[in-house]
Amino acid sequence: MAQGRIWRPVEVALPHKRAKGSFEVLKMEPEVGSFMPYSDSNVDSEVGSFMPYSDSNVDSEVGSIAWTKELETGIDVLDEQHRRYIELLNDYIEKVTEYDRTPDIKVIQLTESLNFLREYAKEHFSAEESIMKDAEYPDFETHQEEHLHFLRRVGELSKDMDTKGFSPKLSREVNYYTIEWFIEHILASDMQLVEFLRLNAGKRR
Ligand SMILES: [Fe+2]
Ligand SMILES: [Fe+2]
Repeated sequence: MAQGRIWRPVEVALPHKRAKGSFEVLKMEPEVGSFMPYSDSNVDSEVGSFMPYSDSNVDSEVGSIAWTKELETGIDVLDEQHRRYIELLNDYIEKVTEYDRTPDIKVIQLTESLNFLREYAKEHFSAEESIMKDAEYPDFETHQEEHLHFLRRVGELSKDMDTKGFSPKLSREVNYYTIEWFIEHILASDMQLVEFLRLNAGKRR
């Protein structure tokens, strides 16, 4: 493993929204390995946790993200797209892990993979926004702003990775957005939308 790039579990503060205490924190065994780059400033080595999730969603062999029922919205098109996003996310994580282990992987392969993931997220967001518009969802703008924020920030990070190279600090922020932010967004904002759609469907009956 290259010096200076030590992969360790970290704890990341999650954004807002969900009711206090409403999520579990995922714990990963330190010896198993994971995909968050280590830095002294952001790691509580005692805790070693980083996302609102259950143990069952981590493939301990490769440190990838697994789909669990908790993420299911019950709306087929959204679930399918969220699943696909997670598949592409795992491709990216795998590339970063390889990059960490071998000189064969170039930074451009990481940015390509990240850009592909971002493009997919963009497609998904636009599908979701169409659903919101059709349903006259009252929180459309706030929800869309979250999507735009993700796309903006991940785009900037990808450019930085391209021009300045891979660094633990940069990678940590990429991981934050592509993993924690995105999952938290499903669990909070997407679920809120789904609840509205359900209530609305009930009213129309
Ligand atoms: Fe979504
Ligand atoms: Fe969304």
